[in-house]
Amino acid sequence: MTPPTLDLAAILNIANQLKRKGIAEIDGAADRDALDVIRTTYFGRKNGLLTELMKSLPSLPSDARPEAGAAINAVKTGLETHLAERVSSLTPVSASPAIDATMPARQQWRGSKHPVTLVIEEIEAIFRELGFTIALGPEAEHEWYNFGALNFPPDHPAMDLHDTLYLGEGAVLRTHTSPVQVRTLQRWPPPVRVIIPGNVYRRDFFDPSHAPMFSQVEGLAVDEGISFVDLKATLTRFAERFFGSTKTRFRPSYFPFTEPSAEFDLQCWVCRGASVGDPEHPCRTCRSEGWVEWGGCGMVNPRVLVACGIDPDRYTGFAFGMGIERTLMARHDAEDMRDMIEGDVRFTLPFGTEV
Ligand code: DAH
Repeated sequence: MTPPTLDLAAILNIANQLKRKGIAEIDGAADRDALDVIRTTYFGRKNGLLTELMKSLPSLPSDARPEAGAAINAVKTGLETHLAERVSSLTPVSASPAIDATMPARQQWRGSKHPVTLVIEEIEAIFRELGFTIALGPEAEHEWYNFGALNFPPDHPAMDLHDTLYLGEGAVLRTHTSPVQVRTLQRWPPPVRVIIPGNVYRRDFFDPSHAPMFSQVEGLAVDEGISFVDLKATLTRFAERFFGSTKTRFRPSYFPFTEPSAEFDLQCWVCRGASVGDPEHPCRTCRSEGWVEWGGCGMVNPRVLVACGIDPDRYTGFAFGMGIERTLMARHDAEDMRDMIEGDVRFTLPFGTEV
């Protein structure tokens, strides 16, 4: 483009017009993109309106050039300043790297005890009323405590249910909380009444009704004159306190460390047995059987007492064990054990987690 030939008055006039027009356009720009276009239109190195006007300076007589140059520069600086102000007024504060005043404050997450822990504490509290204290034992346990002292004969099929991780040098991840019965009796002579909560491990799949790690609560009472009546009374009392009044049922069973042994069931707390033989009104909780299986129990096998150095002619005892996730599932009518373990807040929210 050939620079136009203009005189001083014309240049001053154009500069003035560009100033007014520029200010109006800058004020009217809707966003930063529009301001960018204005910047190029006025200051662009190629064809910018003010750049072009500058190019006409050489055609002026030399004594007129300083005034014209100064006038164009003043318009240029004025427009640049005005444009910069508009840019910053259109720029969101959050684009500033130093501080983002629009960012919401970080939310406070309020955690809570896991539902499994809450159930364990509730069970402990009920047994505390019945005179029990709490005992704990190691999760990496010696085979002798996990099996031998509990009268599992070597290679007995009962051990198939207790396949676990062998850690070497005779150590296993304990498959149940029963070994803590032995540790307790070795340390504290009878009379003993303890509740033993803890994690246990099995070579099980992680599916709706199994998990390779879960929690149990074990109970043990050893004293002179303890009988099956004490066992039934204790567990029935516990069921009443934990589920509201509910009948218990004991079925003969086998565990190496108890003799006699039993499985104990609770009368279904939802249908209370009414769904049995009534296909019109099936019960999901007990699958219309009227009873829900709950745990194992029995009288402490005298061999276990002997292994712990206790005189079986003088002392007798009872023991029981229950799975906590199953208890939690039973109480909340839940179908998938994994929900009890994974800590997903959608499950834990009703138990007090605040997100
Ligand atoms: N330890 C058993 C298990 O995990 C459960 C059990 C059964 C515990 C009977 C006991 C008992 O104390 O008496 O399968």
